[in-house]
Amino acid sequence: MDQKIFEAVDKYISDLFIPPDEALKAAEQSHQLENIPLINVSPNLGKLLHLFAKISKAGKILEIGTLAGYSTIWMAKALPEGGRLISLEIDPHHAEVARKNIDRAGLSSRVEIRVGKAIDLLARLVKENAGPFDMIFIDADKPPYTEYFEWSLKLSGPGTLIIADNVIRDGKVLDQNNDDPMVKGAQRFNKALAANKHVSATILQTIGVKEYDGMAIAIVK
Ligand code: SAH
Ligand code: DHB
Ligand code: MG
Repeated sequence: MDQKIFEAVDKYISDLFIPPDEALKAAEQSHQLENIPLINVSPNLGKLLHLFAKISKAGKILEIGTLAGYSTIWMAKALPEGGRLISLEIDPHHAEVARKNIDRAGLSSRVEIRVGKAIDLLARLVKENAGPFDMIFIDADKPPYTEYFEWSLKLSGPGTLIIADNVIRDGKVLDQNNDDPMVKGAQRFNKALAANKHVSATILQTIGVKEYDGMAIAIVK
């Protein structure tokens, strides 16, 4: 078993379950056209986020880390009439491209992108009493994942689904001596998540067209 078969099977699954979609394709292409890193979720993980939003009947979704809006579009498509998604992004260029992609997908009336440091924007959301969100997707810079999780809890209620991307980092989380700040951020977050009494959680290993990684899945009690 190697990366080649994981990629082939990932494509087999997306060919079966993801019908061609102009807006999603354009959002994917915008990464190259606009010089934005190719670190968006894969199509099958985008579909998984969409299903999670449906399963949790989410009417209010919060995303931390928009990039070009690829995961945003997948989740916003799951919202019912009148549903809202707020996505936080530090990079004005990413936010601008994301707004175009979201507009092209016909979702701009449901999606608000806020530009700034996620920690500051999260504090403001708490001040605004913007919660509780039904689903929160943590996918911004990795070192402060634990802090993003703590702020997310303040914006949650019973049953809120909290998902965090990139928590296995190619299996590097097993190495306690690894000094990559992204790996250390994931290790610290995973430990805090497991120890937190307010949530029940697990981690799903993710393989496929992207690097081997994992998504944490938690539900607020
Ligand atoms: N969710 C996206 C991928 C997000 S990549 C998708 O799957 O399509 C991570 C994003 O977080 C990048 O756009 C990066 O600019 C943003 N980011 C990094 N540090 C941040 C911070 N401190 N506050 C808010 N956003 C940040
Ligand atoms: C990185 C960030 C991501 O959100 C991701 O899915 C993959 C990689 C990164 O910053 O390297
Ligand atoms: Mg990610």
